[in-house]
Amino acid sequence: MIEPLHEREPPRVQLANQPTRGHWLRYGQTDRPREAAERWKIWVKRDDHTGSELLGNKVRKLEYLMAEALAERATHVITCGGEQSNHARATAFAAAQLGMKSLLILRTDDPEHPPEPTGNILLDRLVGAELQWISRPAWRDRTQLLADAAERVRRAGDRPYVVPEGGSNALGSWGYLRAMHELADDLQGIATPDHPVTVVYACGSGGTGAGLILGAKLLGLAKRGIRVAGINVCDDRAYFTEVILRICAEADARWQLGANVTEADIEIVDGHVGRGYAKSRPEELATIRDVCRSDGIVLDPVYTGKAFHGLVTELAADPARFGAAVAFLHTGGLFGLFAPSEIAGVL
Ligand SMILES: Cc1ncc(COP(=O)(O)O)c(C=O)c1O
Repeated sequence: MIEPLHEREPPRVQLANQPTRGHWLRYGQTDRPREAAERWKIWVKRDDHTGSELLGNKVRKLEYLMAEALAERATHVITCGGEQSNHARATAFAAAQLGMKSLLILRTDDPEHPPEPTGNILLDRLVGAELQWISRPAWRDRTQLLADAAERVRRAGDRPYVVPEGGSNALGSWGYLRAMHELADDLQGIATPDHPVTVVYACGSGGTGAGLILGAKLLGLAKRGIRVAGINVCDDRAYFTEVILRICAEADARWQLGANVTEADIEIVDGHVGRGYAKSRPEELATIRDVCRSDGIVLDPVYTGKAFHGLVTELAADPARFGAAVAFLHTGGLFGLFAPSEIAGVL
């Protein structure tokens, strides 16, 4: 049974298929000495199954953000992201499913020559999102660009609702605060103080981490042997510690949760960004291939594949690094695999 959420839970619109299931992975079990395999247990929570057009972690955040958009009677939802943003695509589909239009501000190398419609971009186009292409230098002003777009919508007599990058704000963090209740349930009988388990996730804009940490704190999961660790796929530990602290403090202030998240509650495992955000190394792509072959699960190159490769790199160096077992959160990203990529080179 999922424990009831906090009494101050804000309104939510149902978009995700949840609770998601979980299972143990075969990956790493057969090709390693028995003793190491025993200590190398990875359970995976299938948040890549939260939906089809709306698969992945973004939809959990959007349940709260879109509820607010509906309450404000928004006609247009505006957000931003990288050119293959899963978040932007998910926002456009959530908007369409709820009868709203969407405007996506997307970062690309050459806005004069936008990328071909592949992967998420194809879906953005298919669902009829208005796309505004911006350069990497212009990305620094994204907050202003979002505000300008909202103003344009308002001037046309419509009602904008702005979703921040990645849906990562205090309201969006409720998605993973709620998911942590599911995880607490999932890990009953798996995690104990004598058999600790770490929930490991890909950290890209901090909202998933903030929600998981808030949930773990409010449910007192550390006492049950459950820890949370993010593997950053861009930026660094200092950046995400600050972002997560800020989101948690905002949530605490807005809903008086009393979580009091401190730096000591935040674990970011740095060192696996590799060639940079959305850039892959051959060994990361090989891990995606190997997990697909051992377990029939598709990870994506930008987030889950990179984080999973980081996870197994850490485990190879120290099998007890995350306790007795790992609960890897598969946050989706499938469509990113259909963007031009070097993965064909490792098949
Ligand atoms: C598939 C996938 N996994 C993980 C993340 C990271 O989540 P967050 O942005 O909440 O840190 C994202 C988005 O950034 C994503 O699209």
